[in-house]
Amino acid sequence: MKQANASAKLTAGSPANQSALAESAKVGSWGGATGTTNPGFGLYLHWPFCQSKCPYCDFNSHVAAAVDQNRWRSAYLSEIERAGVETAGRVLQSVFFGGGTPSLMDPQLVAAILEKVRTTWPMSNDPEITMEANPGSVEAGRFAAYRQAGVNRISIGVQALDDLSLQRLGRMHSVSDAIKAVEIGQATFPRASFDLIYARQDQTLADWKAELQVALNLAPTHLSLYQLTVEEGTVFHERNQRGLLKGLPEEGLAADLFLLTQEMTENAGLGAYEVSNHANPGEESRHNLTYWRGGDYIGAGPGAHGRLSFGGKRHATEAIRAPQAWLDAVERENTGELPRSILDPGEVATEYLLMGLRLREGVDIRRLEALIGAKLNWTAVSDLATEGLLEVLGDRLRTTQTGTLVLNSILRNLLVT
Ligand SMILES: C[S@@+](CC[C@H](N)C(=O)[O-])C[C@H]1O[C@@H](n2cnc3c(N)ncnc32)[C@H](O)[C@@H]1O
Ligand code: SF4
Repeated sequence: MKQANASAKLTAGSPANQSALAESAKVGSWGGATGTTNPGFGLYLHWPFCQSKCPYCDFNSHVAAAVDQNRWRSAYLSEIERAGVETAGRVLQSVFFGGGTPSLMDPQLVAAILEKVRTTWPMSNDPEITMEANPGSVEAGRFAAYRQAGVNRISIGVQALDDLSLQRLGRMHSVSDAIKAVEIGQATFPRASFDLIYARQDQTLADWKAELQVALNLAPTHLSLYQLTVEEGTVFHERNQRGLLKGLPEEGLAADLFLLTQEMTENAGLGAYEVSNHANPGEESRHNLTYWRGGDYIGAGPGAHGRLSFGGKRHATEAIRAPQAWLDAVERENTGELPRSILDPGEVATEYLLMGLRLREGVDIRRLEALIGAKLNWTAVSDLATEGLLEVLGDRLRTTQTGTLVLNSILRNLLVT
């Protein structure tokens, strides 16, 4: 998923889903060690095109008859150059090609972008370079060329391991295409992840148990497991409004599906490090951790968001959302960016809390206090801890597993506005 576009989907795509979860779910402990590190510095590139529009998807993704990849190449290179001037000398730790469907990009375009990135910033020793991909066989056949260009991590949108569900989700691929793509991805890239959507129409606990087991049998080292969210502006939303989207789970079943997911992934050594993201230790998405830990990132491409800290201020950037308008603006005005804003300390703190409480490691209390000042409701922290929804471990504040089920209401309680 994923950035500010992604970043928005990080809060929503997964657990806007949280709102669908029951407040009454049974407790479990997240357990495990806490810890935090350098939040990192990354580059997100948004490719806004897809072969078809999935009826549940509210990402900035569009179907276009033809895309002139040479024009897009010049525009991305120009935006990278502009961002490079502003952030000169910073060490880049990750690049993320998100979408849309970036696996529709010509491998030469990806290679040119990565070449420009390497000449623009010093890179860390082991930069993480991720691409989101759809399992269509055409794209899977291009994996080797993307690897050659420098991509070292693939994130494949499998969505379901059941053909009827794939049809209902409007996907263009079959289960067998998806499994093939995962196998090719695992063989081609040093790191591979895939996404599944659960809490789908008519899905029982037993169905999901069997399906998740098939997924785990593919021996992933990272999995993104999102609850289906009916997003405004999508075909699913319209169908739902008209009473035609039948068989979505009730809150109790949604909570049970979430808890089963935690149990099965934990047992398979892929514990949740974020509400919807599971990994073997060390296999977490470093790029996405940068968002959740409140780090800096550049957003390039239509609708991409960025966060840049300099001069003692945190700047929020946002690019023009419509693909053609973004392309025209970059070509004519040398920038695809909308006017920037500077986040005030309360906004910085709120964002840090919103993002950080999604993580198993939680947030750093001292950093939070420095940011949030009087805005954190400590009485609420104490009450929520007594209720078993939050826990303080050394200098970290984090949700318990039960707390994760009611994350949105915890956040409302913690923030005094
Ligand atoms: C940008 S999309 C995926 C990339 C790629 N185009 C694909 O569809 O395979 C990122 C992920 O967000 C998840 N997602 C998108 N819309 C969602 C929704 N309404 N509810 C839950 N998950 C969603 C899907 O798992 C998807 O793989
Ligand atoms: S292919 Fe991916 S980005 Fe495109 S519409 Fe479907 S879910 Fe959205």
